[in-house]
Amino acid sequence: MDPRSQIIVALDCDNRATADAVVEQLGGECRFYKVGLELLTAAGPEVIKDLVARGKELFLDLKLFEIPNSVAGAVRAAGALGVSMVTVHGMGGISIMSAAVDAARDFPGLRILALTVVTSMTDADLTDIGVGGTVDEQVLRLARLAQKAGCHGVIASPQDVAALRSTLGPDALIVTPGVALPGESPAEHARPGTPRAAITAGASHVVVGRTVTRAADPAAAFRLVRASLAP
Ligand code: C5P
Repeated sequence: MDPRSQIIVALDCDNRATADAVVEQLGGECRFYKVGLELLTAAGPEVIKDLVARGKELFLDLKLFEIPNSVAGAVRAAGALGVSMVTVHGMGGISIMSAAVDAARDFPGLRILALTVVTSMTDADLTDIGVGGTVDEQVLRLARLAQKAGCHGVIASPQDVAALRSTLGPDALIVTPGVALPGESPAEHARPGTPRAAITAGASHVVVGRTVTRAADPAAAFRLVRASLAP
């Protein structure tokens, strides 16, 4: 696969101008963006419509965790915007994930991804919220549930990718945030890895945020990530 199709740049910013500036700097190099709750709330859905109109693929990271009826409504609204990926929390259980998958059927290009355990969480964090077992066990448990619900894939940390690929099989999407280039500070990621390690272990996509967007030269940083993925 062309590495450019595997790299999703997270536009984690609180205003439209900053997001536009990054998109402008990356130009045709970057085809795929992630918009999360920060930019969506600050700038509204126009930013998504405009990126789709420019031919970009969009991952709308809504991290849905609501009653099934509300989840379905949000997924339909996302589908109408033309996005190609939406996230739902696996911890919400099978009814929430199934509602998302059913709602996505009206939008052939829309994929539902389940969030297993956010990459900043540790075993101790799970214990704090009353979830027994380790992060690794919880990731696999939720991934199996997501597959049963019909989700097209999962979000997972670099270190969970290999086990997930063998559990979910070759067709599942495995989208991996929490990556940093070798030598970079891993920020708040509890379980970091490099983009290359994630793809080699079986991830279909990597999400890269500050490594690119906070770089002095975002286009050069993007090229570094792309080069790191080249065979
Ligand atoms: O850390 P970075 O800026 O690369 O983050 C990009 C995206 O990865 C964020 O939008 C966030 O959703 C996700 N992320 C994550 N877990 C972390 C850090 C980031 O899922 N610990």
